[in-house]
Amino acid sequence: MIVSRYAHALSPVRVGGLELRNRIFVPAHTTNYGQEHLPGERHLEYHRARARGGVGLIIFESIRVQRNTLGRPQGVAGYDPRSIEPFARIARAVQSEGARFFGQVIHLGRQIEGEFERTVSWGPSAVRWSATAQMPHAMTRAEMDIVLDGHVQTSRNLVAAGLDGIEVQLGHGHLLQQFMSPIANARGDSYGGTLENRLRFPIEVVRAVRAAVGEDFCMGIRISAEEYAEGGLTVADMREITTRIAANVKLDFVNVSHSAYQASYSLATQMADMNVDATPFRELPREIRGALRAAGHAIPVFAVCKFRNIAEAEAMIGSGGADLVGMARAHLADPDIVRKAMAGREDTQRPCIGCNQGCAGMLERNLPITCLINPRGGREGGMKLPAEAPSEAPKRVLVIGGGPAGLETAWVAAARGHKVTLWEKAAELGGQTRWIRAMAHRADFLGLIDHQIAQCQAHQVRLVTGKHADLAAVEAEAADLTIVATGSTPQPLRFASGRQAATIEQALVDPARLGNRVALIDTTGEWSSLSFAEHLGRAGKRVTIFVPVGGFAWRTTIYSSLANRKRLRELGVKIALLRAARDWDGHVLTVEDLSTGELERHEGLDSVIGATYNAAEDSLHHALEAAGIPVRSIGDCLAPRTALEAVYEGHELGLAV
Ligand SMILES: Cc1cc2nc3c(=O)[nH]c(=O)nc-3n(C[C@H](O)[C@H](O)[C@H](O)COP(=O)(O)O)c2cc1C
Ligand code: SF4
Repeated sequence: MIVSRYAHALSPVRVGGLELRNRIFVPAHTTNYGQEHLPGERHLEYHRARARGGVGLIIFESIRVQRNTLGRPQGVAGYDPRSIEPFARIARAVQSEGARFFGQVIHLGRQIEGEFERTVSWGPSAVRWSATAQMPHAMTRAEMDIVLDGHVQTSRNLVAAGLDGIEVQLGHGHLLQQFMSPIANARGDSYGGTLENRLRFPIEVVRAVRAAVGEDFCMGIRISAEEYAEGGLTVADMREITTRIAANVKLDFVNVSHSAYQASYSLATQMADMNVDATPFRELPREIRGALRAAGHAIPVFAVCKFRNIAEAEAMIGSGGADLVGMARAHLADPDIVRKAMAGREDTQRPCIGCNQGCAGMLERNLPITCLINPRGGREGGMKLPAEAPSEAPKRVLVIGGGPAGLETAWVAAARGHKVTLWEKAAELGGQTRWIRAMAHRADFLGLIDHQIAQCQAHQVRLVTGKHADLAAVEAEAADLTIVATGSTPQPLRFASGRQAATIEQALVDPARLGNRVALIDTTGEWSSLSFAEHLGRAGKRVTIFVPVGGFAWRTTIYSSLANRKRLRELGVKIALLRAARDWDGHVLTVEDLSTGELERHEGLDSVIGATYNAAEDSLHHALEAAGIPVRSIGDCLAPRTALEAVYEGHELGLAV
C-alpha cells in the first residue's frame, strides 16, 4: 500500500538486484550489544522490532574486519567465522518481517582505542585524531594487505550468513577515509600525496570486496561527503572521489554522510544534536547524486542525519536530493515510524528529541545504547510494551510530580489498566524541563514532555496542576499506591561572605536583570550549564564560565559538546578551567587558580550565577512512609540526575505496579 502523501518515501525501490518495500532505512549504528565480540539476542530483538516497524532496509552496525579494530569489548568481529550463525539468525528475523538486512564492514584505523584488546591503533600515518588519542602506527604495505583480507573474509562471512547486502565504510573518518584525507594521510609512498595515490588503497579494498561477493551481490559504500575539518575533504573533493570509485568498481549504492570524526566540530556533526541545524547536510547527498549522475552512474544515493519523520524524508526524496533516507536515532526512539505513517498515525510517533544522552552518550562510555524517550530501546527482548502487560489487579494510583519521571510512570501504569491521578504543584507540567522553554535552542527537548502528556491523555490519566501534596491530601485521596516523583531543587552557591549566587532557574526568570557581564560558576559539568551559557551568549552577554576541573561540560557527551564549544567560541564565551569560586562581594568575584593556589580578582561583573547540584525533594516520601502509606519514589527525589534516569525509572515502575 502506498500512502499518497508519501508517494516517494513509501514506494518500493530497487537497490542493485534487490527490491526494497520502501525507501526508509535504518543506518548502521553501533549498539554495544555485542557479547564476546559476537552479535547476540539483544541485537536480534532490537532489529526485529525495527523491521516489524516497517522500514525497507536495516544496516547492521560497524562490523569489524580485524582484531586490532575491535576497539571495545562489544565490538562485533565479522572476520570470526563464529559470527556467521548469529548473523544468520538476525538476518532471518529481519527478513521474515519484510525488511532487507545489510552489514557494514569497517576498519576504524586510528580511531580505535587499542587498550581493550591491547593492540596498537593503525593508521595511514602517525597522525592522531584527538589530543587525547593514542598515536597510531603508520601501516606498512603488508599490514594494508591484512586489512584488505579482513574486509574480504568479513564480507564472505556475511554472505554466508545470508545478509542481503554489504556497505563498505569509507566515511566517518575511519581507516579508508583516513587514507583519502589530507588531514590523516601524510604518506610519502604511492598511497599518499596526490588524490590518485590517496584513493589507491580504498579502491583496492572495495574492489577486493566486490570480487569476493560477486557482481550480482548488493554492495555499496558509505562516504563522508564533507569532513567539516580544516584542511579536510570538501564536497567538491568528494564529488570527484565518489565518481572515481564508481568508475573503478561496480557500486549498487552510495550512502552519503559527513564528518571526519576528528576531535573538533567535525565529530559533532555526525550525530548532530538538537542544537545543530541540519540544512547544510541536506545538500551533500544532492551534490553527490548529481555528480554520479553526470558521470553516468545512476545508482541510488542514501541521505542521513536528523531526518525526524516520513514527511521530511518525503521532501528529500521528492525533491531529487536522495533515493533513500536513513533514520537512525529516530528509529531508536520509535521503531514503528513507517507503520504509523502508513496508518496515518504520525501523531503517535515518539519523537527523537536530539538529546544524544541515551545513544551517542552511551556509545562514548562503551555502554549499551538506549534512548531517553524510549526506555525500551535496546531492551525489546526483556521489557514488555505496556499494552502487552495488562495489570491483573488494577489499582488506584496517585502520582505526585509532573516532571519526566512522574508523567512517564503515570501513562505507563494507566496503559496497563490502573486508574491514575497525577498531581503537579506548579501551574504547568514538565518539572525542571519547564525552564527549557526560555531557551529556543533547546526547544526540541520539550518533545519529551509533549509526548508524555499526549500519552497520559490517551490513557485517561487525570492530570491535576496547581495541586500541593502533603500527608493530609494524600491520606484523603486514599489511593492504593502513591508514587512520589517530586524531583529536586537547585541549590544556590554560597560564598564565605554570606552572599549567594543566583541559580540558573532564578536567572532565567529575568535575564535582563543579570546585566551585561556575567560569570557562570559551574560545578556540575551538566547539560543545563552548557545550554544556559549558550543562552546568555545568544542574548549578547559577555560571559565567563569558571569550572573547577580541566575540561568543560564534562558530564555531557563529546558528540554534542564539541559543537557547543564552537558555538560558545563564536559567541565570545570564555571558559576558565581549574578555577574554584571563593567569594563574591557584589562587585568582585574571587576565584582560586587550582593549579597554583593563587587568588584572582574579577572586577566589573554585573552578576554571578552558580550551578551546583540539586537537593532531592524527598520529604514527602519520608512523611508518607512514616504514616504507613504505601509509597514508591522515582527520579530526582531519590537522587538528582538527568531526564534519562528519570524517564527510565518512571517507565520501569509503571510496568511493575
Ligand atoms: C549510537 C550511534 C552509533 C552509531 N554507530 C555508527 C556505526 O557503527 N557506523 C556508522 O556508519 N554510523 C554510525 N552512526 C551514525 C549513524 O549511522 C547516522 O549517520 C547518524 O546517527 C545520523 O543519523 P540520525 O540523525 O538519523 O541518527 C551511529 C550513530 C549513533 C547515534
Ligand atoms: S537518546 Fe535522545 S537523541 Fe538519542 S535517540 Fe533517544 S531521543 Fe534521540
